[in-house]
Amino acid sequence: MAERKVLVTGGAGYVGSHAAKALAAAGYLPVVYDDLSVGNEWAVRWGPLERGSILDADRLRQVMEAHAPVAVMNFAALTLVGESVREPGRYYRANVMGALNVIEAARAAGVGAFVFSSTCAIYGQPEVVPISESAPKAPLNAYGSSKLMVETILSDIDAAHGFPHAALRYFNAAGADPDAEIGEFREVETHLIPLVLDAITGRRKPITVFGTDYPSPDGTAVRDYIHVGDLAAAHVTAMERLLGGTPSFAVNLGTGQGYSVREVLDMAEQVTGRAVPHSTGPRRAGDAEALVADAAAARALLGGNLTPRSDLRTIVETAWAWQGSETYGRIFRG
Ligand code: UFG
Repeated sequence: MAERKVLVTGGAGYVGSHAAKALAAAGYLPVVYDDLSVGNEWAVRWGPLERGSILDADRLRQVMEAHAPVAVMNFAALTLVGESVREPGRYYRANVMGALNVIEAARAAGVGAFVFSSTCAIYGQPEVVPISESAPKAPLNAYGSSKLMVETILSDIDAAHGFPHAALRYFNAAGADPDAEIGEFREVETHLIPLVLDAITGRRKPITVFGTDYPSPDGTAVRDYIHVGDLAAAHVTAMERLLGGTPSFAVNLGTGQGYSVREVLDMAEQVTGRAVPHSTGPRRAGDAEALVADAAAARALLGGNLTPRSDLRTIVETAWAWQGSETYGRIFRG
């Protein structure tokens, strides 16, 4: 049987590289398309790397023709909320124009499934928590708006031409590959768990807890942390559902369980046996008080065992093991 290839844009990045590993484990060959502007070459381990930007429509078409993938997963995007507020044009160009290029190249190549990385940031400040897929979409920043625009583009193209796709709305991706072959690493890091662990090891400076006056029991903001391995598995299942004839869908990828910033710090102290160097400060602009998924639709569509790795202890343990790995030590230039 011919090798079943899946084109993975952004496959050198955090979630994309874990999806590439999951695809290989499921018998596919992940072809990573990445310009390495944010992603890391060491994270491409399960198939070829095609260097290119999603803003280069000709190169995308050429790679798509050369590999004839059965499906496309589009992870390539800019993902920093604060940066998107300061540089919206750059975010719309990369995330909307770039995604449209990938969608059109995928359609021209006749792929049977398109899996898109969306985000809970499309909901903005929710009126009701947990958040269901039908909740109002009111993004608070250009990052969330750009992702919502692509969801609209996908729906319109599907309605006009038939384009089976899944929009997967991630809550807080966290943790690392249990084998510690890959994990989270960015030159510029803003996410809570890697910053907490880097603060413990002294690789980065002590963290600031942003806001202690939220209406949660301990006053800190609440998020729904989902293990990156569970996200990756959900992508493979979503792709196979579409290839099997399931109509296009959009689902939340979260666990339904929220944890406060303080609870994350406590878990990091339990797992590492060390104190988290930190101070407290004001709220971070644009942060919602609580973002927790209603995960029922994803469970129904993608299987009841959607979140086997997503308890907070496993998330922190795998992130800590990754930070202790030889690879992380070698690549970290902090
Ligand atoms: N936090 C701190 N100190 C830090 C970093 C984070 O207290 O140094 C807090 C944040 O204020 C927030 C929580 O930790 O309450 C989690 O923050 P992250 O930056 O790790 O993640 P966000 O919830 O801000 O971002 C996530 C995704 C984005 C997505 C966003 C939706 O990473 O892609 O949710 O709001 F857009």
